[in-house]
Amino acid sequence: MNLIYKIASIVSVLGLSLLLSFNTYASSSNDKIIERIKPVGQVCMEGDDSCGGAMVAVATSGPARTAEEVYTAKCALCHAAGVSGAPKFGTADWADRGAKGIEALLATAISGIGAMPAKGLCNDCSDDELKGAIEHMISSAP
Ligand code: HEC
Repeated sequence: MNLIYKIASIVSVLGLSLLLSFNTYASSSNDKIIERIKPVGQVCMEGDDSCGGAMVAVATSGPARTAEEVYTAKCALCHAAGVSGAPKFGTADWADRGAKGIEALLATAISGIGAMPAKGLCNDCSDDELKGAIEHMISSAP
């Protein structure tokens, strides 16, 4: 009788640990599956620093939003009225700034300048999108 109890308890301990390790295995492989089936956009946001080089290249090739959309959604906040000395849309301000050249303007727009925050607060803007928005503002000059 005693022996039977011993065998039964050994079997149940073995069974329990088997069950536990199976659970761990199952959840770790679930994680892997979830990782694999995640949509690309969720894993790597456009402009996200954690993106691999290849992903950044994909995300920044060709603007996802038009220049006007980026300007209206992000830049108009300050540039429509000329908040804190921001060069004002549709005025000669942009003729003056335009003289700096698009590459110089893009560089300062990315880093920020004076009261202008980095990327004009458009953290998910690609360089191409920022460039488009700047060109849109430059071409608004009379
Ligand atoms: C919070 C307000 C604010 C927002 C939003 C903003 N800007 Fe600006 N921006 C400024 C101000 C202020 C200046 C003038 C800074 C100075 O010359 O001291 C400026 C200047 C600039 C310049 C001229 C830089 C230079 O080198 O002379 C560019 C280009 C520019 N902004 C692009 C953008 C773009 C593109 C966006 C939208 C993605 C944007 N800004 C959004 C406030 C803003």
